[in-house]
Amino acid sequence: MIKLTIAILALLACSPFSALAEPNGTTDAPVTPSYHYDLYRSQLPTCFDYREAFNIGNDQLSWHVLFSRIRDEYELQSKEDWAQKWGCSGGLTKELMTLTGVEDSTEWIPALEEMLKSALDGVSSDLVPKDQPWVEIEGTTLEEFMDGQGILNDETSNLLNIPSEFERRGGSDRYLYIGEDGRKNDYLPTSEASYQGGVAIMEFYRNTLDNKFLKAPVDGMKCESTNAAMCCWSRDRQYNDNNGQCGLGNCVNKEPGDNTDLCWVEEGDEVFAYPNEDDERDLHCHGVSWSSIEQEYGDVNNDAKWNSLFYVSMYDHLYKRGYVDSITDADDFMGEQSMCGCVEDMNPVARADCTEAYATANYTMFQDQDTGLLVLDYAQDSFEIKFRSCEGYNYDANISPTDYQEAERKNKIGLVRKTNDLSAFIYRQYLEGKAEETVIEEYEKTVVGYRHPEVNNNDAAREVVCQAAFEIKFPDKEWALTVVEEDVEGDEEA
Ligand SMILES: *[C@@H]1O[C@H](CO)[C@@H](O)[C@H](O)[C@H]1NC(C)=O
Ligand SMILES: *[C@@H]1O[C@H](CO)[C@@H](O)[C@H](O)[C@H]1NC(C)=O
Repeated sequence: MIKLTIAILALLACSPFSALAEPNGTTDAPVTPSYHYDLYRSQLPTCFDYREAFNIGNDQLSWHVLFSRIRDEYELQSKEDWAQKWGCSGGLTKELMTLTGVEDSTEWIPALEEMLKSALDGVSSDLVPKDQPWVEIEGTTLEEFMDGQGILNDETSNLLNIPSEFERRGGSDRYLYIGEDGRKNDYLPTSEASYQGGVAIMEFYRNTLDNKFLKAPVDGMKCESTNAAMCCWSRDRQYNDNNGQCGLGNCVNKEPGDNTDLCWVEEGDEVFAYPNEDDERDLHCHGVSWSSIEQEYGDVNNDAKWNSLFYVSMYDHLYKRGYVDSITDADDFMGEQSMCGCVEDMNPVARADCTEAYATANYTMFQDQDTGLLVLDYAQDSFEIKFRSCEGYNYDANISPTDYQEAERKNKIGLVRKTNDLSAFIYRQYLEGKAEETVIEEYEKTVVGYRHPEVNNNDAAREVVCQAAFEIKFPDKEWALTVVEEDVEGDEEA
């Protein structure tokens, strides 16, 4: 920029038009320094020139970064000799208003935020392939997998083998084989089919998950009543991964990490309550949720809902932690439900963890010559879908969507932030106008702790909430463990 300015000034000095550029003494004195440039280009409505492109990296997608680039350029140009001669009327704020096309000085920040959002959502709805199939796993189907069956669920062995975790636990004093290939493990070696399944999942995760939108894993899966899907697991198949209770030499029928409680199971006309009398089996639930209301520029978390379910089910829990089998696959519980499915099809639980999808891309930002407005131009092939623990708020009966949407500072209205909680995420979507009340009603029939953030604390709080929900739904039934005659015992073997 400096070089360009000097070049133009040099040109001016010997230009036959230089008289025109005299800043003083004439009646039609230029209002802005851009007048200088205007001899050589079409007129810009700003004091200074922002047509040169700025690269905006995919980790820089915030209004503040866009603002700082403009500010830096403003400061640079305003220090030029030629610029000293005129004031830029309205200063940086006016420049930002002009660049974003707003009338009020409070509006340029929201306008920059809007620009970023529409740029990202625009790319995702126009350029990203949709309805792409899930990975194929030889020897099993996606239906089987979602159900909690097939080689990926039935085995007890490692998919992810992390050598450092073997070293940390005794190294070669304890293991003959230390490496990444679970097929060679001393304890419970991985079968060829299961190993290849893990490889396929990892490759799909690396090559496809972040750049194409997936279709549902099973035909017809829509989750229309809750706009949410989740997996609830009852077993851990993998050791030395720091998750769940399967360990070296002790991995048969082991439980996943505890993060929820099963309240009851309905099977036909029967109801089986699961009060926390004696040590309930540890269970783990983790869900995803998306907007039930169409959004202005599209909605990446919605477009990527099945990507999120892949991330949760096959990658983050099966591959990385070894979590498998539906809740009802455990002998402890009656009935039958899928391992992963629509929330409306699951039996009631207190809570679930949560993953959301978002997108990043690289852009160049520049001032459009014709309109004088800022533009974000997408850098080809830079779009990426990413996943994170859901960012939500603890349910608060005193705050309505209107309160939330009208609040200028969302963090100043008394909401408590809560990450990694499906209910807190759905409550946030509700506040943002992305979830209808009917969807919430259906959702909390399954995840009964929606209005009770204390279920995040411990089993005792979950027990209270499960019992209350049970007694409302079944006023004539007792909150007590149903004694079922056991005819099968100890038949679970790896
Ligand atoms: C206009 O600028 C020229 C050179 O920059 C200077 O010599 C002259 O005195 C100025 N005239 C007025 C009216 O300020
Ligand atoms: C995108 O932005 C990131 C972060 O600034 C950068 O590391 C990467 O090289 C950029 N990629 C492209 C294609 O420009």
